[in-house]
Amino acid sequence: MQEPITSIDPTRYREVMGHYPTGVTVVTGLDDAGEPVGMVVGTFTSVSLDPPLVAFLPTTSSRTFARLRTSKAFCINVLAHDQAGLCRTMASSGPEKFSNVDWSPSPLGAPMLFDAVAHIHCFPTEAIEAGDHYIQLCAVSAMDVSRQVTPLLFFQGGYGGFSPHGMTARGDGELIAGLRLADLARTQIEALADELRCEAAVMVAANEDELTTAAVAHGGRALMRELIGERLPMKPPLGEAYMAWAPETAIERWLAFAGKDPETAKTLQNRLAKIRDRGYAAWEAKPADTATRHDLERLMDKYATGGLTPAAERSLLARMAELMPYYSHSGEFEDSQTYDIAGLMTPVLSSDGNIAMLLRLAQLPPASPGRDVKTWIARLRSAASAVEAILHGNPDEPDSSAGPVQPRVLPGSVQSTADLGC
Ligand SMILES: Cc1cc2nc3c(=O)[nH]c(=O)nc-3n(C[C@H](O)[C@H](O)[C@H](O)COP(=O)(O)O)c2cc1C
Repeated sequence: MQEPITSIDPTRYREVMGHYPTGVTVVTGLDDAGEPVGMVVGTFTSVSLDPPLVAFLPTTSSRTFARLRTSKAFCINVLAHDQAGLCRTMASSGPEKFSNVDWSPSPLGAPMLFDAVAHIHCFPTEAIEAGDHYIQLCAVSAMDVSRQVTPLLFFQGGYGGFSPHGMTARGDGELIAGLRLADLARTQIEALADELRCEAAVMVAANEDELTTAAVAHGGRALMRELIGERLPMKPPLGEAYMAWAPETAIERWLAFAGKDPETAKTLQNRLAKIRDRGYAAWEAKPADTATRHDLERLMDKYATGGLTPAAERSLLARMAELMPYYSHSGEFEDSQTYDIAGLMTPVLSSDGNIAMLLRLAQLPPASPGRDVKTWIARLRSAASAVEAILHGNPDEPDSSAGPVQPRVLPGSVQSTADLGC
């Protein structure tokens, strides 16, 4: 078959291709003299599962590859986000590249670089000529993830890292928009915290998949636990209180994180419907199970530190899902029965009916009678009504002054003040 002859200006080729990021690997081996040799490669790719093949594309003029290609085996070292310095060293042409680099021989004898994310041990097979590059195919004999951290990325001539969502706000723009919104609720949450001697907070969406704490007030003996800008993943089972009032498309996206099982989706949808009908979400902590609580707190902290790989985040969320029954999801309260309430949340809706923010009460007194819980809920909902009035700029509704106002009935809500027994 006649190959079409095309021509593109090399600068243009580089410029356009530069918009496609790559990972960064160092392919290492031993030269004829048994000396370590290695080159930085951004063109590393998986090729075939069966048989297991990978490939990279060295330029035909590479002096390093001319030495490397005689090696019996290669080690492909996937560099971590904090290895840009090592990358620069290994991308140089000098002969002393390995003098200050920590490595040990791989099972096949090739240099394994310390602290790389993954090591792929392989044998070179075919080197197919493709223009000014080779497509070097390699047969994989063993492979390991050596360090569960995010990889180094190369993009438009610069190094960077993959940015998974951590609990720290990413963009100033996002956080400032959230903080401004939350500011409308400040007087109300301060009054709530003061009156109920607890923690009252405002949570806003930081992005499609995360909530962030945008304002907090403390009253009584409530501790400064929640930090502004801390993030909570909105991935099942987390984020229910927000999702209960989210648009259909957002709910679908949220449900998709739970997998494809229709039963799970149905259970989650029922939970959202219940929260929506009540007009609030209530989380009860099971008092005996402190080990589980600590486990959950540890997982939340791990999420808070950020930098998790998507795989590590998935396994963390799966573990959280297992532990979540510790926070039983309850909405029914008997006046004289006692409850350990971990959190109460209600939405503030914008004039178009979409959720604008969540008001949340936490650090409420343990072992409180149901009648108190009902009072807290009514008070929380009246605060949300007051914030809505400000948000909608409606002068006929309650103004921004703190203090009890009548709870409003939310769209889709069947709960009234009477239902709450308040
Ligand atoms: C991020 C990055 C990616 C690279 N990717 C490749 C590649 O895929 N193929 C290649 O031949 N060289 C690539 N290089 C260049 C070589 O690593 C290295 O600079 C070169 O091998 C040194 O020149 P020499 O081989 O002539 O000694 C890359 C360099 C960097 C910094």
